[in-house]
Formats: sequence, C-alpha cells, structure tokens
Amino acid sequence: MKREVSPAFGQYLSVSCTGCHGHNLRGGPNPLPGTPVTDITSKGRVGKWSQAQFITALRTGKTPEGRQLNNSDMPWQITSAYMEEKLSALYLYLKSL
Ligand code: HEC
Repeated sequence: MKREVSPAFGQYLSVSCTGCHGHNLRGGPNPLPGTPVTDITSKGRVGKWSQAQFITALRTGKTPEGRQLNNSDMPWQITSAYMEEKLSALYLYLKSL
C-alpha cells in the first residue's frame, strides 16, 4: 500500500476503525461498554467537518461542535500519534463514503 494522501490509503487505514465503528463505518451499538459509536462517514457529523477540524478532533479529542471525546470511548490518544498524511488520507476516504 502506497503511503500517500489518497482515499485508497485511507481505506487501508480505516480497517482499524471498523472494529468499533462497524464494517461500513456507519456506527451503531458499542462493541465495548461505553457510548454508542457514531457514524463517521460523510452522512454523519464528519461530513460537515473540514480536514483541519477532523485532524484536530483525532489529535485532541475536541470536535468542532465543542465536545471533548473521552479517550476511553474513542481512543484519540492513539490517533494523535498518526502522521498528518495518515489523518488526511482517512478524512478523504470517510468523506467519500
Ligand atoms: C475502541 C473503539 C473505537 C475505535 C478503535 C475507533 N473509534 Fe472512533 N469513536 C468511538 C466511540 C465510542 C465514539 C463516540 C464517542 C462519543 O460520541 O462521545 C467515537 C467517535 C469518533 C469520532 C467523532 C464523531 C462525531 O460525530 O463526533 C470520530 C471522528 C472518530 N470516532 C473517528 C475514528 C477513526 C478515524 C478511527 C480509526 C482510526 C476510530 N474512530 C477508531 C470508538 C472507537
């Protein structure tokens, strides 16, 4: 897989999100105890976020709506270590869904 800012690389990376957000990334009940998982495709709130807002949310847990995601629900402390390239590719892929 070529590491580049492309939807294809984003799709490859999104496999790590499907365990919680569902195989189609449309969310549903949480497989772990905790808050229900959200739809992270363009049909959900992410569809209204800019790429910069998406990157901030996955690095700090702060969403553009002013929510602070709980790391024990959504493990943003893991995604905060992702290179900008990876987060941008994920954004492009999620926006394409
Ligand atoms: C351990 C389970 C888990 C994994 C793995 C996970 N998420 Fe989440 N995610 C959640 C939960 C639960 C929420 C809802 C938290 C809330 O609403 O407070 C969430 C919320 C989000 C949100 C906020 C959506 C919104 O509408 O505000 C985004 C964006 C997100 N996740 C992206 C991702 C991406 C991208 C990945 C893969 C790199 C990922 N998540 C992996 C559980 C997970």
